[in-house]
Formats: sequence, C-alpha cells, structure tokens
Amino acid sequence: MRAAVVRTFGGPDAVEIAEVPVPEPGAGQVRIKVAAGALNPVDAGVRAGFFGGAGKTLGLGWDAAGTVDAVGVAAAWQVGDPVVALVPGVSDPLGAHAEYVVVDAGAVAKAPATVDAVHAGTLPLNGLTAVQALDLLDLAPGASLLVTGAAGAVGAFAVQLAAHRGIEVTGHARAGDEELVRSLGAAHFTAGGPRASSRGAWTRCWTRRCSVSRRWSGCGTGARTWGCGPGRTPRRCAGCGRGPWR
Ligand SMILES: NC(=O)c1ccc[n+]([C@@H]2O[C@H](COP(=O)([O-])OP(=O)(O)OC[C@H]3O[C@@H](n4cnc5c(N)ncnc54)[C@H](OP(=O)(O)O)[C@@H]3O)[C@@H](O)[C@H]2O)c1
Repeated sequence: MRAAVVRTFGGPDAVEIAEVPVPEPGAGQVRIKVAAGALNPVDAGVRAGFFGGAGKTLGLGWDAAGTVDAVGVAAAWQVGDPVVALVPGVSDPLGAHAEYVVVDAGAVAKAPATVDAVHAGTLPLNGLTAVQALDLLDLAPGASLLVTGAAGAVGAFAVQLAAHRGIEVTGHARAGDEELVRSLGAAHFTAGGPRASSRGAWTRCWTRRCSVSRRWSGCGTGARTWGCGPGRTPRRCAGCGRGPWR
C-alpha cells in the first residue's frame, strides 16, 4: 500500500509516498481502509523535525475516516463499519495518511451519518481537543467562556460544543469571521487586539512588562482608576500595579 512518510526533515517536498506492507491488526486493534484524513499542524511539525526522530522513517497523519477492514481479537467493531479514528504519534513509521491504518479499538468512533468521509476525517484531533478542554473546565450551563481562535479548527469546535452545553460563549476571531463565529453559536463576538478595546461582554487590560499581563474583567469599571479604559493602554498594570507607562 502507499503511505505518506518523511525520512529527511524539511518542507512539503520532504513528504515521500512510500510503498509499505499493509499492517495487520493485533489483539484489541482494528484496521481501517482510509477514505480521508485531515492535515493538521502536527503533521507539518513531524515533517519539519520539530519532534525529533532523525534517521527514522516517520508516518504522517493523525486523523482518519474510512471503513473497518479487519478486526483483531477482542476489538468490538465489525468489518464494514464506517468510522473515524485518532492516530496519534510523532515517531511511528505509519500514520493516518496511508491507504490502511491499524489503531487501537478505543481510538475509533462511529462516523457521523450526515457527512462524507472528507468532513468526518476532520473530527478526531480537533474535536477531541475541544471536548477535552471543555471537560477539564467543567463549566456549568450559563457560565461564560471566551474562545480565542474561534474561527479556527479547534476554536470552531469549542464554540459549538460549549454552546451546546448551554455555556454563554464569546468568540474572539478576525473581524471578517464574525458571521461564521456567531453562526457556530457564539452569543458575543470580539475582534479586539492588544491595543484595541473589546466590546461586548469582555474588556481587556494589557500591559507591556508585567507577567500578570491581562485582566479579562473589571476594566472600564473598577480598574479604571488604574488607567484602564476602552481603547486605552493602561498607565499602570492592573495585575502588579507597576507603571506608569505611556
Ligand atoms: N491536542 C492539542 O493539544 C491540540 C490539538 C490541535 C491544536 N492545538 C493547538 O490549538 C491552537 C489552535 O490550533 P488550530 O488548529 O485551531 O489553529 P487554526 O485553525 O489556525 O486557528 C487559529 C485561528 O486564530 C485566528 N487568529 C490568529 N491570529 C489572530 C489574531 N491576531 N486575531 C484574531 N484571530 C486570529 C486564525 O485566523 P487566520 O486563519 O485568519 O489567521 C484562525 O482562525 C494551536 O496553538 C494548536 O497548536 C492543540
């Protein structure tokens, strides 16, 4: 079968399409015939040598969508099941960017019936990242959440999943992405940058030198005495009180 690998680190030209044996599933594993897989920043990192592994053959690809093709002992999937899977690893000889991939059964989920494999293949890495972050935050319905990069791969999932949990989301993204971010379920939107004031539910206080460099609430109200205000660089840091800076 064909698989995308790197043997020498570099840019996109470093990716090789290699002929390799079809992998066999062991106990508790399944083999997926890959129909589609997303390209994520981690793939570029592996390709460029960010994670090491010089001298080895490294497989690319963390996201896969396809159908179960072979099942190992005690793997609770059936041949033919449409699935998505997370294929994590920065030092393995094979990744999801291959015609077949073997993964642990626990890394496999039923593919959504409403989208094709190309779309389903974008779910595992970024969807899991967003859902795990939300699980760790453990916010109650009605809580407020600021999602930065709200139009991005992880952020767009985070906005939708948080809104689905009844959380009041403020999405931060570029101004041109406001319609998209709101359509994902964000109740508020901000495109404010370091020197701009943020409108809506969030107001920023930025300073230049303090490690406590941001305050996400209070600015423009109580913290105004420190020099904060909409559209202004604070004269003193609301975190440490040092200043003044202009
Ligand atoms: N398992 C994990 O821990 C895991 C998994 C996946 C990702 N991540 C991390 O999560 C982060 C986001 O990844 P991603 O894949 O979602 O990235 P992404 O798709 O590139 O999304 C980032 C978003 O932020 C926007 N953005 C960048 N600079 C901005 C600015 N100054 N003002 C407003 N918007 C700005 C980008 O807009 P433009 O496209 O217009 O620049 C883009 O929409 C990264 O740090 C990544 O490493 C972690």
